Amino acid sequence: MTTGHSELLREATDTALAAAIRAPSPHNSQPWRFEVCPGRIDVLLDRSRVLQVVDPDGKEARIACGAALFNIRAALRSARLTTTTELKPATENPDLQATVRVTGQPYEPTAEDLLLAAAVEFRHTNRYTFTDRPVSDEIRNELVYAAREEGGQLVTLDEPAQLDALAGLVSGADEAQRRNAGFRTELARWTTRLGERDEGVPIEVGGPRPSTDGLFAVGPLRTNGDAGRTRRPLPLVGVLTTHTNSDEDLLRAGQALQCVLLTATSWDVRAAFLSQPVEVAETGRALRNLVAATGQPQVVLRFGYSSVALPTPRRPVSAVSRYL
Ligand SMILES: Cc1cc2nc3c(=O)[nH]c(=O)nc-3n(C[C@H](O)[C@H](O)[C@H](O)COP(=O)(O)O)c2cc1C
Repeated sequence: MTTGHSELLREATDTALAAAIRAPSPHNSQPWRFEVCPGRIDVLLDRSRVLQVVDPDGKEARIACGAALFNIRAALRSARLTTTTELKPATENPDLQATVRVTGQPYEPTAEDLLLAAAVEFRHTNRYTFTDRPVSDEIRNELVYAAREEGGQLVTLDEPAQLDALAGLVSGADEAQRRNAGFRTELARWTTRLGERDEGVPIEVGGPRPSTDGLFAVGPLRTNGDAGRTRRPLPLVGVLTTHTNSDEDLLRAGQALQCVLLTATSWDVRAAFLSQPVEVAETGRALRNLVAATGQPQVVLRFGYSSVALPTPRRPVSAVSRYL
């Protein structure tokens, strides 16, 4: 390997790690670590950062690791490097989630690869009211395709009755969580003030669990000129599912999630998470029935347009990575 090549590889690795830490994570807990050697990045779960109340089995933490993994792959692809990815490699270390290797073959990035990699720094969770501008069918189809590309399925709820049912599950689960003292303590621990910490969600940008009021609202009724009837455009809401809840499928869910979110960002569409019904056991079962036959629900997302998008802080790459 020439010096020039190893310098390029080192630069691409640094860019990939900078992208990895921009991934979403529950309460911005950033439950990941990275171990790096030339041509290889290992993604590890940081168990000390798994949220004990909302995520006792570490499922959401593994989804977050999967999202970080997608950002690494996207950054390396846009640096013209071919990669292979192994999920849950056989190893003594149970924290190891995935290994990305650079093969040495050059890669010609597609326009889509470049768009997704460029979207990483502009993707922020929406914590504000959406405008009433509907998301087009074309974009909806792109989001569904993005999930499928990464081994997930984005099931959109296209019937008003399904949306009503989901709204009921979200508010029921939200109330159950807010009645739980352990949930409130955990939430307080991850609710921060701007500039105070490099983890958690500052109250100034909405906090880790903004109000779910109005998340399904889509503005006033519109008059349909031809028929003289009124209609209300439905909000775009999707449930991301995988076949099973295995560690590998949770990592696939995270990669599919990030591919969907970056695709949305590339269209200027923002997403809000509604994890409450996945996190509470009873509503989780009802949610499975709602998306019947399509597998295990992992993440619920509302998509739309919003004028504000504020970033949340991150721990620096140096605090979460180690060069071996
Ligand atoms: C698996 C998962 C579940 C999440 N659930 C919620 C949620 O229920 N409500 C919410 O507002 N944000 C949720 N988030 C978003 C995080 O709070 C957000 O990613 C984190 O604060 C970092 O902010 P950013 O996404 O704007 O970079 C979730 C993120 C992940 C990965």
